[in-house]
Amino acid sequence: MHADIVVLPGDGIGPEVTAAAVAVLQAVADRHGHRFAFAEHDIGGIAIDRHGDPLPAATLDACRNADAVLLGAVGGPKWSAPNAPVRPEQGLLALRRGLGLYANLRPVQPHPATLGASPIKPHLLAGVDLLVVRELTGGIYFGDKTRDAEGASDLCRYSVAEIERVVRRACTLARGRRRHVTSVDKANVLETSRLWRETAERVVGEEFPDVTLEHQLVDSMAMHLLSRPRAYDVIVTENMFGDILTDEASMLAGSMGLLPSASLGDGDRGLYEPIHGSAPDIAGRGIANPVGAILSAALLLRHSLRLEAEAVCVERAVGAALDAGAFTADLAGDGRALGTEAVAAAVIDALATACHVSELRD
Ligand code: IPM
Ligand code: MG
Repeated sequence: MHADIVVLPGDGIGPEVTAAAVAVLQAVADRHGHRFAFAEHDIGGIAIDRHGDPLPAATLDACRNADAVLLGAVGGPKWSAPNAPVRPEQGLLALRRGLGLYANLRPVQPHPATLGASPIKPHLLAGVDLLVVRELTGGIYFGDKTRDAEGASDLCRYSVAEIERVVRRACTLARGRRRHVTSVDKANVLETSRLWRETAERVVGEEFPDVTLEHQLVDSMAMHLLSRPRAYDVIVTENMFGDILTDEASMLAGSMGLLPSASLGDGDRGLYEPIHGSAPDIAGRGIANPVGAILSAALLLRHSLRLEAEAVCVERAVGAALDAGAFTADLAGDGRALGTEAVAAAVIDALATACHVSELRD
C-alpha cells in the first residue's frame, strides 16, 4: 500500500526518536512491499523559533491531509519561562484538538526483559497487560483559563457527548481484550466526574452488555495501579487523570522511554507519539530510548494503516531486541548501554526473524 505519513520531530530528543521510528517503518515498507512517503514539519518550540507559532497552519494542513502523523516530543527550558507568551505544549494540544483526536490509547505491557528496571516487585508485574484510554480533547486542559491579581482559574467541563464517545471507544477496544473496563473519576468531589460515571453506566448498560464496568476513584486508582496492576484490562478516564496515571503506569514497564501512544478520532487518521517528553537533559547525545517511538510506529501501522500483521511484527522485533539486551542507558547498567541508533538497528535486524512474509499474508 501507499501511505502519506507526516513526521513532527519537535524538540529535545524528539528528532532522535522519530528518526529511529522512521527507519523501522521504512524497513517494514521495504520488507513487505509498501510505499510510505514521509514529510517532516515543525511543531512545538522549534516551530515557535522558526515561525512564531507552535502549530503553524502548514503543519496542521499537512497533518489533515496525511494518513497518519508520527510525533517526537515538544517543549524545553528555552520556551518555559513562566511569563512566556506562547508555549510549545499549546501546539500539541491544538493539533490533538484540530484533528479531533479524542481517544488517547496508552498500552502498558511490561516486557519480561525489562522487569528489573521497574521499581515495582517483579512478581506483581508478570502478566500485566493494560490499556489506558485517556480522553484527550476536553476537560481542564481545554476549559477557559483566567488570571488576575488575586488568583487564577482553569475550568473543567465535559459534555455528555464527549464522555459517550470515549467510553464507547474504550468498550469497543475492551471487546478485543478481556472485556473489563475500569472507569476512573473523582465522583465523590467533582460534578464532571458524577456526569462521567452516570454516562459510562448508561453507555455500557445500553450498548455493551457483554463488557464488565467498574468505577474507581482516581486517588485509590493511583495506589491500586502499583499494588495490583494485573487486575486491570482497559482503564478509561478524563484528560488530566489519564495524563497523570500513565506517567505512573510507565513505571510498571521500567522506563518512560518504553511506552507508546495512539491518539484517535472517528476516522482512521491518528497521531502517534511516545508518552515521554522532550528530555532536554539528554537531547542531542544519541542516547534516548527509541522504543516508545518505535512501538508508536507499530500502533500507526495497526490503527491508521490497518496493517495488523506488520504491527505485530514490529512489536515482536522490539521484544526480540529487548530479549537480546538491546538497552539504552535508562534500562542498562553503566557501560552496557547502546545508543538510540544501535537499538533501532537491533529492532530492524530482528524484523527478519520476527516476521515471515508468508506468515503475514496467510
Ligand atoms: C502527554 C504530555 C502532554 C500532556 C504535554 C506535553 C502537554 O504530558 O502527552 O502526556 O499533558 O498531554
Ligand atoms: Mg503526560
